[in-house]
Amino acid sequence: MIIDTHAHFDDKAFEEDRELVLTQLSEHGIGRVINSGASLEGCKRTIELTEKYDFIYGTLGIHPCDCEDLKEEDIQWLKQQCVREKIVAVGEIGLDYYWDEPDRELQKKWFARQMKLAKEIQLPMVIHSRDAAQDTINMMKEYHAQEVGGVIHCYSYSKESAKDYLDMGFYFGIGGVVTFQNGKKLKEVVEYLPMDRILTETDSPYLSPVPNRGKRNDSRNLPYVVAEIARIKGLSVEEVEAICLENAHRLYKKLK
Ligand code: NI
Repeated sequence: MIIDTHAHFDDKAFEEDRELVLTQLSEHGIGRVINSGASLEGCKRTIELTEKYDFIYGTLGIHPCDCEDLKEEDIQWLKQQCVREKIVAVGEIGLDYYWDEPDRELQKKWFARQMKLAKEIQLPMVIHSRDAAQDTINMMKEYHAQEVGGVIHCYSYSKESAKDYLDMGFYFGIGGVVTFQNGKKLKEVVEYLPMDRILTETDSPYLSPVPNRGKRNDSRNLPYVVAEIARIKGLSVEEVEAICLENAHRLYKKLK
């Protein structure tokens, strides 16, 4: 069974055929999906998906690019919702310096607040970090992120940076980029990482693997990612599927 540990099926990209796509996943070997809430609206839709489909779990948090109008009362709402049986982590949260907005100080404020939230409720965290490697690791250390652990989703930094996150006990979300011809850096990272720290993910609707690069992504494409990890690691696809599923269960205690 393959687990997609990070997808956004709440996204409007699935408005036309969400039900159809989701009901086809099991035929493609996808047995679990963790839908990642990234905005307040996205979190509400994530909760609905977890209620509607047995195999969908959720994480709740506010993405750095969506933190502009965030208020403390929203954090309190997240805190209440995170006690739900199928909400397995806080996220996605983090820093994104690719864009100039929102202001970096504001991003840091809400990243810090949501890391504290994860610790208050003792759930792991799902971290989004783009062009912000140093600030991310510094803040994770400052707020003792290792106390609850988590995953660096869609890991995009170097092998050298990976060591910092490994030392903190974190997992690494690996998706479509590992299949790209220009994905050499990530292939090296996968080669370097211990197999027991890798999680399979899509980030659907984004980052479709080869041969579907550029098209809308969904979990049915995950076998391409599994195959590439298997090739790099010299393992069978069955071994990669089994180890990554076990990893997800170790990290996400509420996952069944
Ligand atoms: Ni995402």
